[in-house]
Amino acid sequence: MRRTQLAEGVYWVGAIDWDIRNFHGYTTNRGTTYNAFLIVDEKIALIDTVKHQFFPEMLRRIKEIINPEDIDYIVSNHVEMDHSGSLPMMLQAAPKAELITTEKRGEAGLKKHFNIDRKMIPVKEGSTLDLGKRQLAFVPIPMLHWPDSMVTYCPQDEILFSSDAFGQHLATSERFDDEVDPAVIMQEASKYYANILMLFGHLIPPAVSKLGGLSIKTIAPDHGIIWRSDPGKIISAYTDWAAGKTIDKALVVYDSMWHSTAKMASAIVDGLLEEGIEVKSYNLTSTDKSDIMTDVLDAKALIIGSPTLNNGMFPSVAEFLCYLKGLKPKNKIGATFGSYGWGGGATKAVRQEMDEMGIEMIADDLTFKWVPEEAELAQCVEFGGNIAKKMK
Ligand code: FEO
Repeated sequence: MRRTQLAEGVYWVGAIDWDIRNFHGYTTNRGTTYNAFLIVDEKIALIDTVKHQFFPEMLRRIKEIINPEDIDYIVSNHVEMDHSGSLPMMLQAAPKAELITTEKRGEAGLKKHFNIDRKMIPVKEGSTLDLGKRQLAFVPIPMLHWPDSMVTYCPQDEILFSSDAFGQHLATSERFDDEVDPAVIMQEASKYYANILMLFGHLIPPAVSKLGGLSIKTIAPDHGIIWRSDPGKIISAYTDWAAGKTIDKALVVYDSMWHSTAKMASAIVDGLLEEGIEVKSYNLTSTDKSDIMTDVLDAKALIIGSPTLNNGMFPSVAEFLCYLKGLKPKNKIGATFGSYGWGGGATKAVRQEMDEMGIEMIADDLTFKWVPEEAELAQCVEFGGNIAKKMK
């Protein structure tokens, strides 16, 4: 088995999940990896483990390098089970290993998940661990994205083991950023941020400034490729995403029962395009909400359409709005549209949700009864054009 080194004595010993397509409701079209790292010094430390069923793959990689019984420490940067699911088995394979986790939150999380009775070394801001030639430093980053989350820094190798932060769900045979198409990496990194971290955006600047004092040559996240050629690129992207920076891009997101709302969506897109605005249009029947979120991240305008069903919005639109609301999008303007049969009510319900999210509604709701006629479709084009003008 090929050994992958981040630096002399620092190995990637994780696992590649080629087949996963749904990660707790997030579509992972390119699979993922669970990255774990082995540092072989006078003392031996394993940083994070892998999802339960990938334990044999991680153990094989470790055995290529050392006898697992020689591991002195296992660092748990984060309790979530994609990184700790193998921990009970790993503790059996490494009987003398002490477990390092954040005080209180990590300790409680590991005990509650796995009923662990191994000695734990609780760490907090400023805690360090001497491995011999290296001293690891631990930096808690609570709520990025779990209460127990922390990163581990190795100053001698200038490696930041960043847990979920800066990761991407991306299964590849390559391990480093200079070996994979940068457009693919950034697409998956932005999707990861939009779906996992966006709601915690306010915590990113303090975390980044805390890390700003460290000299970082390599960022090793727990998912996807390792940033060794340009770690500043992903830190800068996180800074922009956290600030809620947008571009002149409009998203038209809708569902339709009998294609009337779809016809309206298409005409609204025409109006936006006529004004030279970048547009992405998504029918919720065809595209998963987690893919749409990637575009929400930097879109300036969200235009959401729903037919009326039972005096309210269509269920797929309600699901999308529920997901969107939880992720707390910032700096958006919005509008809503849709067709109805007899009573109406969808756009009113959509507007209420968008208002509650703090989206600035910049147009009156556009609604038409039954199938939109030519003159009504012309109004849809105008509606899109007017939104575009307000975006500029
Ligand atoms: Fe990749 Fe929050 O676990």
